[in-house]
Amino acid sequence: MGSDIPGLYNMTPEERMKRVMLETGLSVEDVEGISQGGASISILDGMIENVIGTFELPVGIATNFIMNSTERLIPMAIEEPSVVAAASKAAKIARINGGFTVSTTDQIMIGQVQICDLEDPGKARDILTGKKQELLKFANSRDPLLVKFGGGARDLEFRILDSPVGQMLIVHILVDTRDAMGANAVNTMAEALAPGLEELTGGKVVLRILSNLAVKRLATAEAIFPKEELGGKEGVDMIMKAYYLATVDPFRASTHNKGIMNGVSAVVRATGNDTRAVEAGAHSYASVSGRYLPLTEYHINENGDLVGRITLPTAVGLVGGATRVHPAAKAAIKIMGVKTASELGEVLAAVGLAQNLGALRALAREGIQRGHMKLHARNLALQAGASAEEVDEVVKRLVKSGQVSASMAVNIINDLRK
Ligand code: MEV
Repeated sequence: MGSDIPGLYNMTPEERMKRVMLETGLSVEDVEGISQGGASISILDGMIENVIGTFELPVGIATNFIMNSTERLIPMAIEEPSVVAAASKAAKIARINGGFTVSTTDQIMIGQVQICDLEDPGKARDILTGKKQELLKFANSRDPLLVKFGGGARDLEFRILDSPVGQMLIVHILVDTRDAMGANAVNTMAEALAPGLEELTGGKVVLRILSNLAVKRLATAEAIFPKEELGGKEGVDMIMKAYYLATVDPFRASTHNKGIMNGVSAVVRATGNDTRAVEAGAHSYASVSGRYLPLTEYHINENGDLVGRITLPTAVGLVGGATRVHPAAKAAIKIMGVKTASELGEVLAAVGLAQNLGALRALAREGIQRGHMKLHARNLALQAGASAEEVDEVVKRLVKSGQVSASMAVNIINDLRK
């Protein structure tokens, strides 16, 4: 399959879907799942409480992605214009040098158990350290299925923290959650361990819950973006200046990372995963050094090309939750062709880097409003009745006129048809 599909932009949604089916082997049943109203109300009613209806978002396909030599089409569920286009454009630039090099750590999530009211937190930590293997064995006995699939509790870590209510001992349970996001497995183990931890330490357990700062479940993507595609040396220098602002100013870093999450969250959402978990992880990871920093890093290589790199926590899964039941999520995973949670994490990293480069490239050159305006003009042209043959010309004239409005679109169409 190929992920570079020229002209996808100018097709109708039905034509695009046919092309995606051709590239990915998506079945008619899969297509029904991702088309309008794909999820039945009975599925949705089982997902949350007091269901009354649905809230639909467009799913667009980002093209041109290659990751470790694998071509992938990327479904993105998002309300914001230009995000899909920017990701596709940046991926097209990256593919000149082979696309994105991606990797992940193990898929380890962290559960926290907070033990308070200890007479001697250091002594409590030593006691628990001595019982580590027993505690891990007990935690694993609570999730035999995860263990059967090769996952399970791997280690315990201990931290003593000062707080306004005295010192507390925080136990981290490190759980390999394999292809699950893992919140359920981790929370079950944390809750199950708590009484034993109280008994062993004489302390009082308060919280027993997953941490979203998933520093042991990281994905990394790297790509080289040739200077010729970025406006030459001057363009690269502008992007570096924009990037450096994010490294020294949290006001800019916040927006820089927001742009990254435009792409990451759109993919997380399309796969039925928890956008808030990934967002909390990304932003807390951005400040793990004590300063809020950009999630991406850039440098210029010996050719003068731009090398970009991103690392972010990716608490996502392919089993459990909405990912397994929502037909659109199932179709999205098939479109990407990801087989493991780790591969999905790699997709998120590549999309995040592409999104950031796409935004920086646009911001450092013409700003982002031109791209937004083009899409707005296209929508107006179609609403005003432009045919597939007319639409490009109408958009061109609308943007050139400087008056992107519905009435102008009608005038231009009338002129064209004279
Ligand atoms: C808008 O949703 C995202 C951007 O502001 C990101 C950025 O400034 O890098 C364009």
